[in-house]
This record gives sequence, structure tokens and C-alpha cells, in this order.
Amino acid sequence: MLLAVFLSFSQLNYSQDDGGSSLGDPAKGKELFNSQCAACHKPYARSTGPALHGITEKRDIDWLYRWIRNSAEMIAAGDADAIAIFEEYNETPMTAFPQLSDQDINDILAYVEQPKPEPPVAAAGEAAAGAGAGAGVSTNIIMAALTFVLLLLVIILVLVNKTLTRFAEASGVELPEEEARKPLWKAFAENQFLVLSSSVILLLVGAYFAYGYLMQVGVDQGYQPVQPIHFSHKIHAGDNGIDCKYCHSSARVSKTSGIPSLNVCMNCHKSVSEVAPETATEEYSKEFYDGQIAKLYEATGWDPTTQSYSGEEKPVKWVRVHNLPDFAYFNHSQHVTVAGVDCQKCHGPVEEMEILEQYAPLTMGWCIECHRETNVKMEGNEYYEKIHEELSKKYGVEKLTAAQMGALECGKCHY
Ligand code: HEC
Ligand code: HEC
Ligand code: HEC
Ligand code: HEC
Ligand code: HEC
Ligand code: HEC
Repeated sequence: MLLAVFLSFSQLNYSQDDGGSSLGDPAKGKELFNSQCAACHKPYARSTGPALHGITEKRDIDWLYRWIRNSAEMIAAGDADAIAIFEEYNETPMTAFPQLSDQDINDILAYVEQPKPEPPVAAAGEAAAGAGAGAGVSTNIIMAALTFVLLLLVIILVLVNKTLTRFAEASGVELPEEEARKPLWKAFAENQFLVLSSSVILLLVGAYFAYGYLMQVGVDQGYQPVQPIHFSHKIHAGDNGIDCKYCHSSARVSKTSGIPSLNVCMNCHKSVSEVAPETATEEYSKEFYDGQIAKLYEATGWDPTTQSYSGEEKPVKWVRVHNLPDFAYFNHSQHVTVAGVDCQKCHGPVEEMEILEQYAPLTMGWCIECHRETNVKMEGNEYYEKIHEELSKKYGVEKLTAAQMGALECGKCHY
């Protein structure tokens, strides 16, 4: 009897734990949440709208379908819960989402019902260790190789010394006392074969590392400078789902993407003067983040207490992360707008980067490789349709890569 109670209890418990994920796919839900809901909701904290974690326990699923598709309709229809929450939030209207299917909504709910992630202590530590290891690896390898070579030399010397002594004894040569105790280095220096072979080994090892080092010169993959204000792409583009082009607005239309002016930051930061407590991690405290926002205020001369600008500005000098040499030409709008390449293809998972880093090597080989692999989007582009017809006849193929369109010509990338 007791056992039965215990069993059913633990099962109940189990199904509750599982509650969120059995609804739908949290990964798809995260995407939908970030693109549709994140402007007003956070999973675990109040924002413009209420925190959504725990909502499936508070409301039943049909209520949620109706609310999310059209909350205004429910309020107008006199649903008591709907009116109550609407009034609690000062009658701020929520956008209607009639386009979301039941499955979409299940996915979103599965995402917000996931247990709150612990502050990524270990993960952050690992990442930091990983970044450190990146630089450490090559030195480690060098040290290991050198130790190995040295050890080898010592062993060879000892062996040679032994053989020589034994050979001398065997052939009856009387070795003078001091001759027998000839220091190792002397024996080594007198053996021409040993000197030669070890020099060759040393030279080869040296050349190998020198080559490796030279190939890295000018390639700043992973470059991650310290910025005047600690600006987290993870918090802005990731957690808060702000579109890249909101800040890097010129990526679509011009050669450069540009860094947003501080006015753009102040659109939000006039009201956002501190981060939510749960944004803090083991590595970066809430005080640290709030201090960074204070730096933004100092730079723009904004006084949060009087809510006005003092007029004293101190422009922020962001440190450039990506930088091609002057002789190479790269155009963002060509890639982002014309070719439709995602920012992440070249810049990596920026929305997960606490500190921005250079993701791609930015070498000529990297540009060329992608031009060989990527098909050019032709649909709905009159300019290309004509060229496409001619070129696809020439190459006898349906699809054309950027390379076949001429993106391997030196002059396209070099002035
Ligand atoms: C424009 C801002 C905005 C967007 C976008 C938005 N919401 Fe809301 N949501 C609100 C506000 C504000 C409330 C509080 C009720 C009110 O004032 O209408 C709310 C309430 C809710 C509630 C009811 C909470 C409760 O405690 O009963 C749910 C559920 C909800 N939103 C889900 C979503 C989902 C899912 C999305 C994305 C598909 C979304 N919302 C997008 C602003 C928004
Ligand atoms: C809220 C504004 C904002 C948003 C949104 C934003 N960025 Fe940034 N971005 C910045 C600022 C400020 C810098 C300069 C500081 C730094 O490098 O961290 C920057 C720097 C960069 C750089 C490096 C520039 C250099 O110096 O070479 C890249 C690449 C970049 N952002 C890509 C992206 C991508 C991709 C997204 C979307 C996933 C994005 N950004 C979203 C503000 C933003
Ligand atoms: C679309 C709105 C928006 C824009 C634009 C924006 N921020 Fe933020 N920013 C936020 C929000 C919201 C938070 C708090 C996030 C939290 O509480 O989790 C924040 C947090 C911060 C923080 C503390 C966390 C961190 O990243 O170190 C700093 C510093 C910051 N913003 C600087 C900037 C700068 C500089 C710009 C302009 C390049 C900018 N923000 C543009 C919304 C914005
Ligand atoms: C095809 C690869 C590619 C794509 C796609 C791409 N970038 Fe870049 N990005 C680069 C390269 C290469 C540089 C370095 C340019 C230079 O130094 O002249 C760069 C530089 C930048 C910079 C530094 C400032 C500048 O303009 O030089 C920012 C910011 C940036 N990119 C943001 C973005 C954003 C946001 C997107 C998506 C809308 C994007 N990039 C898409 C390759 C790319
Ligand atoms: C992720 C893939 C990708 C990478 C990486 C990339 N490109 Fe491209 N690039 C394209 C595609 C696709 C096109 C064709 C765009 C179109 O015209 O439709 C293109 C076109 C071009 C063009 C125009 C060619 C023409 O025929 O007019 C230039 C110039 C160019 N890229 C330069 C660069 C440089 C410089 C780099 C490296 C710093 C680079 N690209 C890296 C995908 C890439
Ligand atoms: C798709 C763009 C692109 C094309 C096409 C291209 N290059 Fe480059 N090239 C670059 C970039 C980007 C760099 C800078 C690489 C770096 O900084 O490591 C570069 C660097 C170089 C360098 C300097 C040496 C080096 O590797 O850093 C030489 C020389 C060069 N290119 C010659 C050529 C010649 C010759 C052609 C025609 C056969 C050509 N390039 C075609 C993009 C291109």
C-alpha cells in the first residue's frame, strides 16, 4: 500500500518535471520566442509582459492558444482571466499572432517551461580556459618537442659512451684513468656523426615551427580585443533577440557594416539603466554590467537622475576586430543583400559571444573557397537573369557558383 502511494507519487513528480518538454520542441520554440515574443517577454523575469515560465500550470492550453492568437478578442469577449492580466499590465496590448499553429505555440511553451539554466559557471570557465589554451597549445607542443629531442640526445650519448668503453676494453686498449672519465660533452663533440645528425634534427624541428609561425602572421582568427565598454553580443543579439541590422544597419546597403553610434544605444538605454539580476553570471556580476551601462551614460553625457543630457560627450573608441589589408576589397551589401549570406556564415555564432571575436581566418583562401562552393541566387534578380543564361550555356550547368560568375578574378578583390 505504502509502496503504491510512493510509486504513484514519484510518477506524478516525474511527469511534472517532464511537463515542459513533452509539449513540443524547445529548440524550435527558442527561435520562435526570440523572433516573436522576446521584444516583450523574458522566460524567467517580468519585462513589458509577464515572465512566461510556469504559464502552462497557471493557464490551460486552450486558453493559451486563444490568448496568443488574439488576446484583444478574449478581453473584448469578457474572459475574466484575460481582463485581469490586461489590467495588471496597465492595459498594454499584446500583439496578436494568428499565424502561429498549435504546434508553434507548443514549441514556444516547451521552450519557456524549460528549467531555468544555472548561471554558466563551468561553461564560462571552460570557455576562458579554451581561449587560453588556444594560445598555449603551440608553446606546449614546442616545449614537448624540445624536451623529446634533448632526451633523445642524452640517451644516444650514454649509449655511445658505453659502447666506446666496452669496445676499448674488448680490444685491450688501456684507457688512461682521465680518458675513461671523459666528460659527456667532449665525447659528443668528438663524434662527428652525432654532431651532424643532431644538428640536422634541430634544424628540421626549428624550420617546422618557424614555418608554422610565419603562416599565422596576419591571420587573427580568434582575435578578441578588450573594448572600452564591455558590450555583450550574447546579451543583446542573443538573450534579447535584437536584430543585427538594428545596430549594424549599413551592412545591407553599403560596403561596411559600421559600428552603431551611441545614439542608437540610447534609444533603449535611456530606460534600461541596469541589467536584470538573472543576467549576472559567475564571471560577470550585476554590478559589473551596471557599471558598463554607467560608462555609456558618461560617454553620452546622460544623467539618469535628471533624465537629461549634460552636453559633455566623450566618444567611445571601439577597437576594430576585423581588418582586411588595404589592398583587398570587401563589400558587405554584395554578400548580405545580393548574395543573401547570413552574418553568422562569416562571423560565427555572434549571438552567443559574450566578447566578440574574429571567427573566420579572413585569408584569401577563405574568400576563394566560399566563392567556389556557393551558388549565386538568381531568382528575382533581372540583372543576373541575362548573365546567368549566357554563362550557364557556357558552362553547361543549371546552377552557377560565385566563382563562375567571375568572383575569382584578382581585380574583383584587389584594387
Ligand atoms: C508587444 C509586446 C508583446 C509581444 C510581442 C508578446 N507579448 Fe505576450 N503579453 C504582453 C503583455 C503586455 C502581456 C500582459 C497582458 C496585457 O497587457 O495584454 C502579455 C501576456 C501574455 C500572456 C499571458 C500571461 C499570463 O500570465 O496570463 C501570454 C501567455 C503571452 N503574453 C504569451 C506571448 C507569446 C507566446 C508571445 C510570442 C508569440 C508574446 N506573448 C508576444 C506583451 C507582448
Ligand atoms: C545593440 C547593438 C548591436 C547588435 C544588436 C549587434 N551588434 Fe555587433 N557590434 C555592436 C558594437 C557596439 C560593436 C563594437 C564592440 C565590439 O566589438 O564588441 C559590435 C561589433 C561587431 C563586430 C566586430 C566589428 C569589428 O570591429 O570588426 C561584428 C562582426 C558584429 N558586431 C556582428 C554582429 C552580428 C552578426 C550581430 C547579430 C547577430 C550583431 N553584431 C548585433 C553592436 C551591436
Ligand atoms: C534594442 C534595445 C537596446 C539597444 C539598441 C542597446 N541595448 Fe544595451 N542592453 C539592452 C538591454 C535590454 C540590456 C539589459 C539586459 C538584461 O537585463 O539582461 C542591455 C544591457 C547592456 C549592457 C550591460 C550588459 C553588457 O552587455 O555588458 C551594456 C554595457 C549595454 N547594454 C551597452 C549598450 C551599448 C554600448 C549599446 C549601443 C551600441 C547598446 N547597449 C544598445 C538593450 C539595448
Ligand atoms: C561573406 C562574409 C561576411 C558576411 C556574410 C558578413 N560579414 Fe561582416 N565582415 C566580413 C569581413 C571580411 C569583414 C572585414 C572587412 C574589412 O576589414 O574591410 C567584416 C567586417 C564587419 C564589421 C566591422 C566593421 C566593418 O564594416 O568593416 C562588422 C560590424 C560586421 N562585419 C558586421 C556584419 C553583420 C551585422 C553582418 C550580417 C548582416 C555581416 N557582417 C555579414 C565578412 C562578412
Ligand atoms: C560565405 C561565402 C563567401 C565568403 C566567405 C566570401 N564571399 Fe565574396 N561572394 C560570395 C557570393 C555568394 C558572391 C556572389 C554574390 C552575387 O553577386 O550574387 C560573392 C561575390 C563577391 C564579389 C563580387 C564578385 C563579382 O563577380 O562581382 C567580391 C568582390 C567578393 N565576393 C569578395 C570577397 C572577399 C574579398 C572575401 C573575403 C574577405 C569574400 N568575398 C568572402 C560569397 C562569399
Ligand atoms: C575573393 C577575393 C580575392 C580574389 C579573387 C583574389 N584575392 Fe588576393 N587576397 C584577398 C584577400 C582578402 C587577401 C588578404 C589576405 C590576408 O590578409 O591574409 C589577399 C591577399 C593577396 C596577396 C598577399 C599575400 C597574402 O596571401 O596575404 C597577394 C599577393 C594576392 N592576394 C594576389 C592575388 C592574385 C594574383 C589574385 C588573382 C589570381 C588574387 N589575389 C585574387 C582576396 C582575393
